[in-house]
Amino acid sequence: MKKVTVSTFQEAKEKGEKLTMLTAYDYTTAKLVDEAGVDSILVGDSLGMTMLGYENTLPVTVDDMIHHSAAVARGAKRLFIVCDMPFLSYSTGIRDSVMNAGRMIQEGMAHAVKLEGGVEVAEIIRAIVDAKIPVCAHIGLTPQSINALGGFKVQGKTDDTVKKLIADAKAVEEAGAFAVVLECVPAPLAKKITEILSIPTIGIGAGADCDGQVLVYQDMLGMYDDFTPKFVKHFAQVGEAMKEGFSAYDRAVKAGEFPTKEHEFAMDEDLLKGI
Ligand code: KIV
Repeated sequence: MKKVTVSTFQEAKEKGEKLTMLTAYDYTTAKLVDEAGVDSILVGDSLGMTMLGYENTLPVTVDDMIHHSAAVARGAKRLFIVCDMPFLSYSTGIRDSVMNAGRMIQEGMAHAVKLEGGVEVAEIIRAIVDAKIPVCAHIGLTPQSINALGGFKVQGKTDDTVKKLIADAKAVEEAGAFAVVLECVPAPLAKKITEILSIPTIGIGAGADCDGQVLVYQDMLGMYDDFTPKFVKHFAQVGEAMKEGFSAYDRAVKAGEFPTKEHEFAMDEDLLKGI
């Protein structure tokens, strides 16, 4: 299969072909996602919840992101890796933002970074793009602003927020982003934004008319049930399969049914004589 690059995103938009993105945070999962033919992995700061058990994404650090991104890069050889810039890593000035994005590429071996926000981060996006680092923007529900937004809420349901989202979408495209994630945006508004922009839109809870879709892999495999958003579809029940496997192991060991001869290493037992 052909290597996916930043140009693949633009080509897909121009040809009207859908793009697929899934999160992954480790070597084994990245290898599976890569082999499955998905276009892109997002090393999302959602790892704070799905991998580290935090309540939200705010405690995640640049070092956490780099650690997971590098593991993903060791597993995924074909697809395009986007690494999230975590909370506070792009809000203390342009130099900090470019340096942090650079670490995601140099140490995290990602191909691009993603950051949340529209008009207010356009200057930061421009500076990172100028440093030759592709940027995926993220507008709509932006989980790093959970305290400022007053919780996880669908965005773009009032006249003001519709206008703001359209202005945000135009601003990130203008700043040089190669794609934009639309999270929890009403489907008709996401469709309108997708028509207005010449860069691809990647939807999560933004309807079928976006140029691509992204989901958190534990959500779509039925592995994470702390909270299931309305937009999630379970494409497999991996959580149940894992639990069944874990308890089959527990029962087999306790019943003396595992391990058996076929799992043992043999030796010359004369070596044990006289010990
Ligand atoms: O962190 C993440 O997984 C994300 C997706 C929800 C788009 O940003």
